[in-house]
Amino acid sequence: MTEIRSQKSEDREKKKGWVRKDLLSIEELSKEEIELVLNTADSFKEVSARDVKKVPALRGKTIANLFFESSTRTRTSFEIAAKRLSADIINFSSSGSSASKGESLKDTAKNIEAMHVDTIVMRHPSSGSAEYLSKCVKAGVVNAGDGIHEHPTQGLLDLFTIRERKKTLEGVRVCLVGDILHSRVARSNIWGLKKMGARVTVCGPPTLIPAKIEELGVEVSYDLDKIIQEQDVLNILRIQLERQRGAFFPSIREYAAEYGISKERLRKAKPDVIIMHPGPINRGVELSSEVADGAHSVILDQVTNGVAIRMAVLFLTTAMDK
Ligand code: CP
Repeated sequence: MTEIRSQKSEDREKKKGWVRKDLLSIEELSKEEIELVLNTADSFKEVSARDVKKVPALRGKTIANLFFESSTRTRTSFEIAAKRLSADIINFSSSGSSASKGESLKDTAKNIEAMHVDTIVMRHPSSGSAEYLSKCVKAGVVNAGDGIHEHPTQGLLDLFTIRERKKTLEGVRVCLVGDILHSRVARSNIWGLKKMGARVTVCGPPTLIPAKIEELGVEVSYDLDKIIQEQDVLNILRIQLERQRGAFFPSIREYAAEYGISKERLRKAKPDVIIMHPGPINRGVELSSEVADGAHSVILDQVTNGVAIRMAVLFLTTAMDK
């Protein structure tokens, strides 16, 4: 009994500084809140390396994973994160549910909430859907990617991975390469990196760089070979063919020639540059296989860190018992 009480007071201490019911975007977070998530993830990371990969932090709590779009990494890592925190988790996808019969998002969420779910993790193709959901339910809402708006836990795990490798985010030069226009990962990265003091460049074909993006405090380049040698981090984004209506570049081959990271292009970069990619990778387009699987790549570290970040986010957003 005394042990449980002391664990609870330790957990309360860990949550100090977090007052949100939801995590909807990185744009809404302060630098201190981002640091709290990263530091909480740091403390949870070792749990996944134990023989018994479990802590009791969310024992008795129920998390619902609502995915209206495909996912490998995000859905799986939220599920693993919930289980490592001892929560129960239910997985819900639009196919095979009543959403495919026309049930509204609000009705779906209200029905799930009626089963006393504590936190809802949602991925949805519409920008703003997570914020809408958060207004419909009392449960916590975690945005697992909403349209082209944000993917906050991906942004946070990217910050965590850069901080782990470079020991700081302050002054680190990060270049986001590729399809910035359709990328929720780019938006979450830009908000997070700028708040943490990193220098951010976006680089890609002019058709895939949003107008006025400089207003977010980033530099813009259309010539990767010109700026590659200044970068500490290259975060390579997926070409989102499923979101592109029309031709944004002449051909995949030309895109790869101008913006793909090959072994030859990588030789122009700093010797300690790190290569990131949120996945899924289009091998041979955004990255050659040699680069994706090579010594500079931290792509699988990002996946490992994704579990720690999602443990932190579920821990912070799921309400504790009084
Ligand atoms: N990075 C990412 O969101 O991957 P999934 O689409 O597989 O979840």
